[in-house]
Amino acid sequence: MDKILADYRNQIGDFEIVEIDEDRLERIRGELDIEAPLGLHWTWNYGNEVEELAALYERGKRGQWNAETDIQWDADLPLDEWFLPRENVLLLPTILTMMEADEETCKAAAADEFAFTMSQLLHGEQAALQICGQLTNACPTMDAKFYAASQVADEARHVEVLSKLLQRKFGTIYPIGGTLKILLDKLLQAPTWKTKTLGMQTLFEGVAVGILDMIQKGSTNPLVSDIIRRVKQDEARHAAFGILTMRRTVKDATEEEMVEMEDFAFAILEALNANQQLDMLNVLGPKYGLDGHAVVQMAMSLDNWAEINSDLFMHTVVPNLARLGLITERTEEKYRACGILFGDRFGSGMDADVRASMN
Ligand SMILES: [Fe+2]
Ligand SMILES: [Fe+2]
Repeated sequence: MDKILADYRNQIGDFEIVEIDEDRLERIRGELDIEAPLGLHWTWNYGNEVEELAALYERGKRGQWNAETDIQWDADLPLDEWFLPRENVLLLPTILTMMEADEETCKAAAADEFAFTMSQLLHGEQAALQICGQLTNACPTMDAKFYAASQVADEARHVEVLSKLLQRKFGTIYPIGGTLKILLDKLLQAPTWKTKTLGMQTLFEGVAVGILDMIQKGSTNPLVSDIIRRVKQDEARHAAFGILTMRRTVKDATEEEMVEMEDFAFAILEALNANQQLDMLNVLGPKYGLDGHAVVQMAMSLDNWAEINSDLFMHTVVPNLARLGLITERTEEKYRACGILFGDRFGSGMDADVRASMN
């Protein structure tokens, strides 16, 4: 499989980055109507065929909450106070602290970067909403259709809660990054429900669980903590759906199909990683006197770059892929070479919320 975003590649030192220039970015964002042909599958079997999905659907029904009335929206979120650790969760305040910037600057950068990250999650939630809608059509069993339908409601709630958080507490929603838009379009256009499930439920939900867990562990603001905790619990069910469904898919797959899925998974994660947050750095960096390329170069010069860089991926997505048999001897080296995989490919265990959703 060819590299995704092949037209947008440049070198920073030895590393091949993905970066989308301003002109093209506007065009990519402007593509609102996407051709996404979809195979629809009827079923006349209304009994439970896939027990673990039926259980997950029940769990999903019990886990519903109301993004307007269950959240304490009148709680304070002062942006001139730290609500995440100054270092090691967000990139900008970490770098600015290393450069001995004053505390006010670091706090402002943290609030901006948090809003940027939440905005990207928000756009990802919209994609998840649309992909789950597709899954209600395309999945073969009624259990999977039921489950996907309950996830449609979850994702609508996530779009609602994150957009309200951004509008009410940060006063802004940042536009989608170009890399993310192109990758999400790829998933929406993926030809089969299996590829959509692998792409959205296993890859993107896996990365999202990693981001949410880092924020949840670091957050010292009750409103942020509550929203992230609720969203993450839902996402853990979604990640569980990905694992449970992909387990069956992998079991039935031919060798050729396995190779295709392994390559697809690597191509998506490789492209995501190849951006090295330049979509964010190019928007926010100049405000704080930071040049995106210089930041990436500096990060890559650290002895433990691969370890730091792989953190997000090693949290959930890489170990899940490895457990599914979708990272093999053939592809492991490629993951290592670009700093996505570090240490044991199975990571250090499964996220507690994801594990709880599987039982
Ligand atoms: Fe979501
Ligand atoms: Fe989700």
